[in-house]
Amino acid sequence: MTVYRLAAPAKINLFLQIIGDRLEGNGFHELVMVMQAVTLADHIELVPRLDDDIYIDCAHPLVPCDPSNLAYRAAKLLQKQVGDRGGVDIYIEKRIPVGAGLAGGSTNAAAVLVGLDLLWDLGLTQAELQSLAAQLGSDVPFCLSGGTALALGRGDELTPLISLEGISVVLAKYRSLAVSTPWAYQTYRQQFQANYAQTPGEQEQKRLQGGSPELLRTIAQHDVKNLSQYLKNDLENVVLRAYPQVQNLRQTFTELGALGTMMSGSGPTVFALVENDLKAEELCQAMAEKFQDTDLELWPCKFCSQGIHLVDFPSR
Ligand code: C5P
Repeated sequence: MTVYRLAAPAKINLFLQIIGDRLEGNGFHELVMVMQAVTLADHIELVPRLDDDIYIDCAHPLVPCDPSNLAYRAAKLLQKQVGDRGGVDIYIEKRIPVGAGLAGGSTNAAAVLVGLDLLWDLGLTQAELQSLAAQLGSDVPFCLSGGTALALGRGDELTPLISLEGISVVLAKYRSLAVSTPWAYQTYRQQFQANYAQTPGEQEQKRLQGGSPELLRTIAQHDVKNLSQYLKNDLENVVLRAYPQVQNLRQTFTELGALGTMMSGSGPTVFALVENDLKAEELCQAMAEKFQDTDLELWPCKFCSQGIHLVDFPSR
């Protein structure tokens, strides 16, 4: 029996600009993002079943082991698409925090698509996988391919950028704090809708005015110090106001010498860019000493150039 084991990296947003509502009126926003995969990753194990059932197992108390889990929905979607290939047991070893703005659920769903393509010998093309991924969520297509990418539209129109592999980053999140992504976007809409671009022409103009040409230039130059000056996340405008403790994490990262710091996605994870691994370890230690709070979790990690990939971790 073949068992597939995959690593499913988390992502951070180096840039997230909200242009307006999507013009097709589906409740989603038109975005300009730069997304980056990091080495903090969940492990997913896929074991074939003889019957048609899909079974999810995860020890994390906040992860539902039922059909509401995005990993379950990914397997169901593929089953529907390709017909009778049997069922699957999906074991999720959760390392990425939940409700964190790190695409933890999306990357698990992406891993299930990649793993089942192999397990069921489907031979799906990258374009077919991307199309299935987009049906599951806005971040799932990026999670498939990972690396560094410009993401437009709903977040699913991807252009790969030059690899930033190896840049050191520290992630910080309060264990007990989770932010709902729909809440963050809806609150942003309530507060800023007056500034939204309303027509394709206005959207294009707003994209050109804002956008991220400086960030893209510093990425091309692999210049982490300058890149840090161009980080942006429009959702900070609502989330940091609602959660001052997240703002405080950001401020303290800066005081302790981070090159740049920003909230990721809809938060509440805050990341800090630093010069190297040693600085990352030192920054984690300094943050832990400063806050003296067992609820605060810190992860030193790195930018990575991979998306979902096979790994050889020991069996459960
Ligand atoms: O696509 P996903 O399920 O991850 O989106 C979660 C929620 O985030 C959506 O229901 C929507 O409220 C918000 N969202 C948005 N515009 C996007 C992506 C997400 O408004 N481009």
